[in-house]
Amino acid sequence: MWLAAAAPSLARRLLFLGPPPPPLLLLLFSRSSRRRRRLHSLGLAAMPEKRPFERLPADVSPINYSLCLKPDLLDFTFEGKLEAAAQVRQATNQIVMNCADIDIITASYAPEGDEGTGTLKIDFVGELNDKMKGFYRSKYTTPSGEVRYAAVTQFEATDARRAFPCWDEPAIKATFDISLVVPKDRVALSNMNVIDRKPYPDDENLVEVKFARTPVMSTYLVAFVVGEYDFVETRSKDGVCVRVYTPVGKAEQGKFALEVAAKTLPFYKDYFNVPYPLPKIDLIAIADFAAGAMENWGLVTYRETALLIDPKNSCSSSRQWVALVVGHELAHQWFGNLVTMEWWTHLWLNEGFASWIEYLCVDHCFPEYDIWTQFVSADYTRAQELDALDNSHPIEVSVGHPSEVDEIFDAISYSKGASVIRMLHDYIGDKDFKKGMNMYLTKFQQKNAATEDLWESLENASGKPIAAVMNTWTKQMGFPLIYVEAEQVEDDRLLRLSQKKFCAGGSYVGEDCPQWMVPITISTSEDPNQAKLKILMDKPEMNVVLKNVKPDQWVKLNLGTVGFYRTQYSSAMLESLLPGIRDLSLPPVDRLGLQNDLFSLARAGIISTVEVLKVMEAFVNEPNYTVWSDLSCNLGILSTLLSHTDFYEEIQEFVKDVFSPIGERLGWDPKPGEGHLDALLRGLVLGKLGKAGHKATLEEARRRFKDHVEGKQILSADLRSPVYLTVLKHGDGTTLDIMLKLHKQADMQEEKNRIERVLGATLLPDLIQKVLTFALSEEVRPQDTVSVIGGVAGGSKHGRKAAWKFIKDNWEELYNRYQGGFLISRLIKLSVEGFAVDKMAGEVKAFFESHPAPSAERTIQQCCENILLNAAWLKRDAESIHQYLLQRKASPPTV
Ligand code: BES
Ligand code: ZN
Repeated sequence: MWLAAAAPSLARRLLFLGPPPPPLLLLLFSRSSRRRRRLHSLGLAAMPEKRPFERLPADVSPINYSLCLKPDLLDFTFEGKLEAAAQVRQATNQIVMNCADIDIITASYAPEGDEGTGTLKIDFVGELNDKMKGFYRSKYTTPSGEVRYAAVTQFEATDARRAFPCWDEPAIKATFDISLVVPKDRVALSNMNVIDRKPYPDDENLVEVKFARTPVMSTYLVAFVVGEYDFVETRSKDGVCVRVYTPVGKAEQGKFALEVAAKTLPFYKDYFNVPYPLPKIDLIAIADFAAGAMENWGLVTYRETALLIDPKNSCSSSRQWVALVVGHELAHQWFGNLVTMEWWTHLWLNEGFASWIEYLCVDHCFPEYDIWTQFVSADYTRAQELDALDNSHPIEVSVGHPSEVDEIFDAISYSKGASVIRMLHDYIGDKDFKKGMNMYLTKFQQKNAATEDLWESLENASGKPIAAVMNTWTKQMGFPLIYVEAEQVEDDRLLRLSQKKFCAGGSYVGEDCPQWMVPITISTSEDPNQAKLKILMDKPEMNVVLKNVKPDQWVKLNLGTVGFYRTQYSSAMLESLLPGIRDLSLPPVDRLGLQNDLFSLARAGIISTVEVLKVMEAFVNEPNYTVWSDLSCNLGILSTLLSHTDFYEEIQEFVKDVFSPIGERLGWDPKPGEGHLDALLRGLVLGKLGKAGHKATLEEARRRFKDHVEGKQILSADLRSPVYLTVLKHGDGTTLDIMLKLHKQADMQEEKNRIERVLGATLLPDLIQKVLTFALSEEVRPQDTVSVIGGVAGGSKHGRKAAWKFIKDNWEELYNRYQGGFLISRLIKLSVEGFAVDKMAGEVKAFFESHPAPSAERTIQQCCENILLNAAWLKRDAESIHQYLLQRKASPPTV
């Protein structure tokens, strides 16, 4: 029987008004009754706000959860019935489970037989919250314009306990029999296929949908969705039924992801040599969604922009993003879901691995994307930037309380994790790596594993000292700077290498400098794409002899920018490498790596920024999108820094000079035979030129924008971002109003996001304020507020100040909106990192001392460190940069 109608209001009272109860449920049973242990009291165990944290006791654990949920999509409540078959390992009078923000109505436990098993029954009620975690409501508009809500879940990392009482730890696996009671005209989905659907006795408008039993799995991977959706469907080569669920009327937009998923499943099956273990997989677009996507087993949830592609209105970068996200989440179906990390300390293993193999998968499906080069600029350099800070952390970090778990969904777990796996894969070789992966997945399937377990399998497969090498990368933070100098000795080149920790603030000071075991590759101009020598550097210093290298040949370290280290060359070695940038004889990813290393050496004060500007000018003939993208990103960082000076305009001149030649070569319209990367490059270059105020670009952007708005000539999807950005930055209130109108009219979330991200480019103070107010309005999905405010902070000098003030003034609302969570970290990072004045670091620190954000603590420290680094950089190099730019203006370099 379902609970009386009064129950939900009780739940609501508790949920809305009471302080949040501690996330532990302690069920106490009397020991007196021998046959049927009756609940004699039910209490919520007191648990301190933060540390010390304890994991659940192991004396009672679940075997199977039989769970029935009945969401009310109008009242935003749900009723739940749980019958859990449990195993009592040790006699006890209490069962400790996790439970948060749900209200227990009744609970009982009945032992069965003599094997220590029994059934725990709990009836409960809860709220379908609007915080995008647990069991929550997501708003959508029907094709006829009516606002409705779907009920959806997001449980990782520790929010399954918000939907039903459970043992909410990744190592406590059990099977699940899930059923949902839903309005009969709604789609109801869960991890498994439907096995029964029957009318609900108490209400003819409802049906009860029953799903097949899951394999043993962790609670954070359980999912259910109730709403209105269309779908497209196919069967993959290996017989799995794949569906992509889209908003009603948009099934077409699911086709691209469907194709990718159908190609990806057999790819992973072959790679791991383990079949996909469930009969079906659904991929579904959820309107309100905090993360990018979530790998729930058999029911993967996505933001709309990470799944839906419209052939006409989606740009190339969206296509690529969808492919990567699909590749990422489907990899988790094996790596994470079948074999799960033992504890959140090993989260990096899940996320680092998936963030690496998503590229392998996309490279397989779309070789024309040249996706591995993009890895270097998207993940590798991003990880190095963060990991050079004193406030970084080791990949493996001990975590307890949920806020500490939220904190490690960061670039260290994802991007450094992926980068060290890429280095490891390269060190081991694909054949043995695959063999080791299969050993690992087979040995631990349906179980849990720790980092060491993966090393052991890879060690067995390869015969190489994997644990010894990898421990230096995962257990200590940071990475090395390899200094190298060379000497010609007759026909050979002698290289002297030394390693020291690379610090964003300059050389490592202090004793006991950490050391790494570094797989190093060395190439020469004789064959720039082939390693002439591979070594494992396992000491602070090493000498290496390269046989038969002529005096006029260059020598380069880190072929393919695969090793997770930075390189500092002696001046002579660097001098010999630079022509390889100009004449393109260095491979693209090596050109990218070299430029990026130099840029970060300059930021750290090891070399001068002027030297890097000169290197940037050597990229005149550069054809490669990703190389440009990385260069553009670094120039963006420099522009932001110099926005604190009175010669900001001069650096814009520099940007225009660097980007004009390629802009002219590309033009505005695609040429026959061009592909994906040309489209990305054109968007990047025109956006950069437009933003910097390049006259011809600005004029053409305005012309095309006008035609677009008037409906004369709709802008191609790939040109929209750069054009919107350009006209807004150099526009007025009317331009902003037109953009806001386009936003309102947009039917696709991709287009709305595209507009939201550029709004911050606007320069006038009143308009900036208008954009900030818009960020918190109903017009912007809660998960997208972050990028609007972040866009303002990154858009201009005034925007930076205004965004920070806005965050302070609206802190309560923002914090409440995300309830801690990782979006708050992202918001803080985007909004304060651009400051370059010492006192701002103090101000930021002080603000968060009085307005704590536990899950963003480390991010805040990192931001303060970055502000101080910016300030030091500015003091150190501003004058010489200014001089260089002036001198350059007086006598422009001849190309
Ligand atoms: N497991 C995560 C989703 C997640 C992130 C849950 C943070 C809880 C907190 C998922 O596999 C993931 O990594 N998603 C990424 C997208 C991916 C392509 C990098 C995301 O959401 O950003
Ligand atoms: Zn992931």
